[in-house]
Amino acid sequence: MKGTILAKEDKPARSVNHVAIIMDGNGRWAQARKKPRLFGHHAGAKRVRQIVRACPENGVKYLTIFAFSTENWKRTQTEVSGLMLLFRRYISKETKALIKHGVRVRFIGDRVRLDAKLVSLMDELEQLTSGNDRVHMTVALNYGGRDEVARATKRLAQEVADGKLSPDDVDEETLPRFLDTYVLPDPDLVIRTSGEARISNFLLWQSAYAEYEFIDTLWPDFTPEIFANIIDGFGKRDRRFGGAKP
Ligand code: IPE
Ligand code: IPE
Ligand code: MG
Repeated sequence: MKGTILAKEDKPARSVNHVAIIMDGNGRWAQARKKPRLFGHHAGAKRVRQIVRACPENGVKYLTIFAFSTENWKRTQTEVSGLMLLFRRYISKETKALIKHGVRVRFIGDRVRLDAKLVSLMDELEQLTSGNDRVHMTVALNYGGRDEVARATKRLAQEVADGKLSPDDVDEETLPRFLDTYVLPDPDLVIRTSGEARISNFLLWQSAYAEYEFIDTLWPDFTPEIFANIIDGFGKRDRRFGGAKP
């Protein structure tokens, strides 16, 4: 594509096609420095840029990052509005570079509760990068796995009510077509930083057979080197998907 950096250094996608990351620990990182939590979120946003750029050389075609959960509204008004402003600024500032690096951006989550200005920036970024194919970056914003399944079920039920879908046709292939992630492959690997060993409502349906990596590093300290090491380790894992070893 015109304007896209030549991809000759890209590693062919090996077993790890899709990596999803729960970027956690920004608050603790800031607190350790006696700074406000938003300082940690800003440092975290800088890491996102580096990790997106490190995807091609690690054979990662799809990167999905958890930026704001449906539960994160419980935080203080200062933190929530600071995060929303950070998302807006990040999109405005990064658009050009994302296009240049061949990144296609998508957002998942419920946009209804988000500020109209932010939503229009999100729509615009999706539109502007829709022709890119080097890295597919998905940002989960106001995303919750249960909320996503509930919204999907509502749409599915509507199709049944309208006579477009028969209940007999609802199966494991049909339901994910109603999820926000309908165009994406399932994640192969889910990484969570900051030492918490939980998934906090992230990609519940999609991660049924993902491998998990929980690491102590706080998100603002997560370097491309740590990322590359985890990807290397993934290649040694034995994924059986319910089968038995031959
Ligand atoms: C993750 O960092 C970023 C968001 C949830 C937006 P946290 O803000 O959860 O950081 P900790 O867990 O409090 O350290
Ligand atoms: C998960 O982190 C959400 C994001 C990274 C955006 P949280 O910090 O919100 O999760 P809990 O509260 O520790 O489970
Ligand atoms: Mg946290």
